[in-house]
Amino acid sequence: MRFGSRALAALAAAVSILPNVSAISKITRTGRYLYKDDGSRFYIKGIAYQEQGVVVASDDNAFGEPSTFVDPLALGDACSRDLPFLQQLGVNAVRVYSVNSSLNHDACMQAFSNAGIYTIIDLALPLNGSIDRISPSWSTNILDQYIRTIDTFAKYDNVLAYNVGNEVILQDGTGVSPYVKAAARDIKAYLASKQSSALVGYAAINGAANWRDALANFLSCDPSNGNSGSTAIDIYGLNDYEWCGNSNFDSAYARTTADYAGYNVVAYFSEFGCITSPPRLWTEVGALFSSQMSDVWSGGIAFSYFQAASVQGQFGMVTISEDGKTVTTSDDFGRLRDQYTAATGPNSPSQGSVTASSFPTCPTANSTFVASTNLPPTPNEAACNCLESTLSCRFTPATTNYSTTVGELIGTACSLLGQQGGNCDDIGGNGTTGTYGRLSGCDPTIKLSFVMSQFYEATNRNPASCSFAGNATINTNAPSSVSAANSAASSCVSNPAATFTPSAPASGGSGSSGNGGSNGNGGNGGSNSGSNGSSNGAIPLVAQTGAIVGLVSVTLVGIASAFMTLA
Ligand SMILES: *[C@@H]1O[C@H](CO)[C@@H](O)[C@H](O)[C@H]1NC(C)=O
Ligand SMILES: *[C@@H]1O[C@H](CO)[C@@H](O)[C@H](O)[C@H]1NC(C)=O
Ligand SMILES: *[C@@H]1O[C@H](CO)[C@@H](O)[C@H](O)[C@H]1NC(C)=O
Ligand SMILES: *[C@@H]1O[C@H](CO)[C@@H](O)[C@H](O)[C@H]1NC(C)=O
Ligand SMILES: *[C@@H]1O[C@H](CO)[C@@H](O)[C@H](O)[C@H]1NC(C)=O
Ligand SMILES: *[C@@H]1O[C@H](CO)[C@@H](O)[C@H](O)[C@H]1NC(C)=O
Ligand SMILES: *[C@@H]1O[C@H](CO)[C@@H](O)[C@H](O)[C@H]1NC(C)=O
Repeated sequence: MRFGSRALAALAAAVSILPNVSAISKITRTGRYLYKDDGSRFYIKGIAYQEQGVVVASDDNAFGEPSTFVDPLALGDACSRDLPFLQQLGVNAVRVYSVNSSLNHDACMQAFSNAGIYTIIDLALPLNGSIDRISPSWSTNILDQYIRTIDTFAKYDNVLAYNVGNEVILQDGTGVSPYVKAAARDIKAYLASKQSSALVGYAAINGAANWRDALANFLSCDPSNGNSGSTAIDIYGLNDYEWCGNSNFDSAYARTTADYAGYNVVAYFSEFGCITSPPRLWTEVGALFSSQMSDVWSGGIAFSYFQAASVQGQFGMVTISEDGKTVTTSDDFGRLRDQYTAATGPNSPSQGSVTASSFPTCPTANSTFVASTNLPPTPNEAACNCLESTLSCRFTPATTNYSTTVGELIGTACSLLGQQGGNCDDIGGNGTTGTYGRLSGCDPTIKLSFVMSQFYEATNRNPASCSFAGNATINTNAPSSVSAANSAASSCVSNPAATFTPSAPASGGSGSSGNGGSNGNGGNGGSNSGSNGSSNGAIPLVAQTGAIVGLVSVTLVGIASAFMTLA
């Protein structure tokens, strides 16, 4: 089927003259179900909605993760172009993997709201804008990015949920789980402080039950507060590609559904739509919205509206013409439309009969799930900035494009420090042991400056030790002795394990933390090399590849005694 722009314009006009019914309903979670204001059950009937960014194929990029993104909610013309097609599909939600908080989203958000379409927004960005799988931290730069997005979208009535991560945790990396749970905890507290009713979610890769189920329970448990749920996600997404061709409930979904039978919060398929044996018939929609599954799952997100390629093939239900004006739908589109328009999940249980969630104690770590219930603290920007001002040797990036350099320099500086008998424990952490360095929540640029300063002190402030090939500068305002620097630094991070409700970064905009950080660009930095971040605009893998290993953490460098310790 092919629509020229004239047909499109006609469709768009037809849509806009429809009587503007009432405002889109607020969606509330009660127990593990979602309800509209009128008390009827709400199922997510959604589609992933984001053009794929640039994917640089390399051994480092087993997931085919893009390194750039196009914010689909900032493109008003594209949203009005696509809206009639989304309406034909009968969707009530779109999932978007990365957005740019400095852009204007009014046109898309308003158009979607008017059409009864909610958004599920992932807060991560490609590369350094997500929790790193290999060298994870939950740090001010990521928190601030997440908060800027939430602040940008706070004024819209159709944000259903924010995801704090997508496929960050893998079978061989379950030790990353505490960082993701800490993100959920802090984002939940932030949303509560803003009186936002948006849900906090995570989208998990599918995998063996012996870690997948433990992770689901870990994210929705509450280790500290019994039934407050303050560290628990509200909505768990499973990227599930188990149904292929014309399968059936028993062979595709029965086992997984049984595994989640007692789950305490909302669960849905954050991606679905197998492609390993095309054509995609989308008959799974009938199963997903049937009473066989509706007690556990609240619908799902078909992957994907736009074309997207993965190692497994080509996803996508429409093609957009080169001039961006014409939408051509595929047979996939027609089949999904037929299935979605026919599906209505059972309107049960009734909201009044459902009890609020209880939040169980967290799963105990074992050999297949190695996450500690001791979570990293809330990233403390004030403490990190205070500390940074005391440092004697600081990172001064030569370019604004420094996120790769930071990772390399941290490696170099930690290695040099190790040769001096120091270590990088203060900037590292370990989600398996549940131990987090005092600076683990700081911006990577501050971590780097800290290690540079330690090395500089370790060599008795030899000026040559504060160069790093032109990447560092001596801070003449630093305390004049190591011991004075130590005590100043220690007083900045007096309670490194504290959790609290984060506040918005001092100023908005992209690329600057706006906090007066005194390094060259006053901004944030990223410690990962850009290749092993979490999955954004994801091309999902059906199953675990086991490819992400090699935990070359900066914490591994070094031996014992530090010169500059934060006692
Ligand atoms: C967001 O958009 C602004 C304005 O176009 C651009 O300068 C900035 O680089 C973008 N940020 C990201 C993270 O893409
Ligand atoms: C670890 O615990 C999870 C439940 O939290 C369980 O599913 C898994 O089988 C356990 N692994 C082993 C090796 O016992
Ligand atoms: C990522 O790195 C760039 C510099 O390359 C920086 O401007 C940006 O703030 C960083 N983002 C985060 C979340 O650290
Ligand atoms: C940023 O740096 C990376 C690696 O150093 C490079 O590949 C990329 O092209 C640079 N981007 C810009 C905009 O300079
Ligand atoms: C974390 O600690 C565990 C248990 O001591 C260890 O096996 C693992 O290698 C550590 N991980 C990192 C990234 O250092
Ligand atoms: C900074 O460090 C990077 C990475 O080690 C190096 O490539 C670069 O030459 C250094 N100097 C400057 C001025 O960027
Ligand atoms: C990224 O992960 C791959 C394993 O999948 C590893 O070989 C590679 O060294 C990692 N790259 C970086 C820069 O950490």
